[in-house]
Amino acid sequence: VAQRFADGPLRGLHAVLTAGPTREPIDPVRYISNRSSGKMGYALAASLQALGARVTLISGPTNLPTPAGVARVDVETAADLLEHSLQLAADAQIFIGAAAVADYRVDAPADEKIKKNDAAMSLALSRNPDVIAAVRERYPDLFVVGFAAETEKLAEHARGKLERKKLDMIAANWVGRGRAFDRDDNALSVFWAGGERELPQASKAAIARDLGALIAERYGARA
Ligand code: CTP
Ligand code: CA
Repeated sequence: VAQRFADGPLRGLHAVLTAGPTREPIDPVRYISNRSSGKMGYALAASLQALGARVTLISGPTNLPTPAGVARVDVETAADLLEHSLQLAADAQIFIGAAAVADYRVDAPADEKIKKNDAAMSLALSRNPDVIAAVRERYPDLFVVGFAAETEKLAEHARGKLERKKLDMIAANWVGRGRAFDRDDNALSVFWAGGERELPQASKAAIARDLGALIAERYGARA
């Protein structure tokens, strides 16, 4: 993939982003996934590229075109996402986890299509690895930005994730009841150890430009 580099505050830096949903197979024709469209992550990839970064997007299944000048790696499961994230973050300075990673996977996906019968059915699930926490642990010097999608107690839950996952910054948005997922606009509350900023309702492209600028600012101010 040919990449072009803009001039800007992130020139010379490599930013790796995850975006979109993951898919966890049940059998060859079925999977568990979520409502993430990937739009926010893709818009942020374009914004970081415009700020001068070399950008690699690790993407779950979406219907979106790859932003101009951005390199893209396609993945399906959380396990794939983890493997590529650990690999690609090795030469990155900024890692952004915008993917909606499935928290659970099916223990034993069936090799053949599951046939129905009259009994009730249940699926045994196991916890997936936490990708962003694993990346942080492997690369302590990386500037790591997470996202949080919440239906309640936004600031409390987002700050909890910031601390637990040892992130440098977290961007939180309200979801559910028609908000954020698969829409073209969004609002974000961004938190870091020493502060916070509100990015009010706007198109995902406009929000991504503001968030990109804030990431560049906080990256520049890091200890
Ligand atoms: N994340 C991750 N790997 C997972 C789950 C989440 O890397 N297995 C990342 C997301 O990409 C996001 C951040 O962690 O940057 C927060 O995701 P979220 O789903 O809001 O948090 P969880 O820790 O999974 O907590 P919960 O879903 O219970 O609220
Ligand atoms: Ca989750």
